[in-house]
Amino acid sequence: MKITVIGGTGLIGSKLVNSLKNSEHEVLAASPNKGVNTLTGEGLDQALEHADVVVDVANSPSFADEDVMNFFKTSGENIIAAEKKAGVSHHIALSVVGTTRLQDSGYFRAKKIQEDIIKSSGIPYTIVHSTQFFEFVGGIVHSSTIDNKIIVSPALIQPIASDDVVTALTAITIGEPKNTTVEIGGPDKIKLSDLVKKYTTIMKNKDEVISDPDATYFGAPLDDSTLIPNNNAKLGTIHYDEWISNPENQR
Ligand SMILES: NC(=O)c1ccc[n+]([C@@H]2O[C@H](COP(=O)([O-])OP(=O)(O)OC[C@H]3O[C@@H](n4cnc5c(N)ncnc54)[C@H](OP(=O)(O)O)[C@@H]3O)[C@@H](O)[C@H]2O)c1
Repeated sequence: MKITVIGGTGLIGSKLVNSLKNSEHEVLAASPNKGVNTLTGEGLDQALEHADVVVDVANSPSFADEDVMNFFKTSGENIIAAEKKAGVSHHIALSVVGTTRLQDSGYFRAKKIQEDIIKSSGIPYTIVHSTQFFEFVGGIVHSSTIDNKIIVSPALIQPIASDDVVTALTAITIGEPKNTTVEIGGPDKIKLSDLVKKYTTIMKNKDEVISDPDATYFGAPLDDSTLIPNNNAKLGTIHYDEWISNPENQR
């Protein structure tokens, strides 16, 4: 089986490509750095030639509302058109737990469009909703910092290590299409404000962490259920405390 990983050079993509190379399958990493651009279509048909399975773990280089919408809509349409030509029999995409609950955010409106394009494509698919990656806590801190204050919600979050995401994605990639959305998350629920405090303490970031129930997450309000996966979610095994105490993860 040939598997093309769109975004195969990114955080999840590069680990997924390595993981799949341990199977008996042929794996191709496709991204602009490899001459494949889903926005312009450059190299896309060649990357999908003879592909049985496509995994889309690409992300928009810009999170500005218009850019991210253009990225996921145009890329999504281009990928599906190329898959139809190539006769791809399983499309897998990585999206985010709570996407439909986060529609006040431009990023999540774009992820929903990405999902809608897949669902209406007619190509067998599995959409994987993941909670936030441990590696993304720094990005949350960055986006929540104003004048040396980090203002974040105390709503619950259930973050997951990228290695646990890749374990789940590997099994889904070599499995049968589910034609629905499956959810994955980390082993522990924690208040977002407490998670951010753990991160800033380890990273020696002296900015004050302010817990504010009205603080939004990339523009969307949160409650204790917004970012939490459903009861059927497959949970990872790596705990944040052990992960962040590894100096390799303190970047
Ligand atoms: N961050 C989170 O907590 C979280 C949680 C749940 C789900 N997700 C989803 O997980 C996915 C992967 O995230 P990530 O953090 O692994 O991403 P990432 O590290 O930012 O990697 C992005 C990848 O997208 C590729 N890319 C960018 N522009 C492209 C284009 N025009 N055509 C083709 N590929 C392009 C990049 O290629 P180059 O290296 O060549 O530039 C790179 O391989 C995203 O879809 C995101 O929505 C994220």
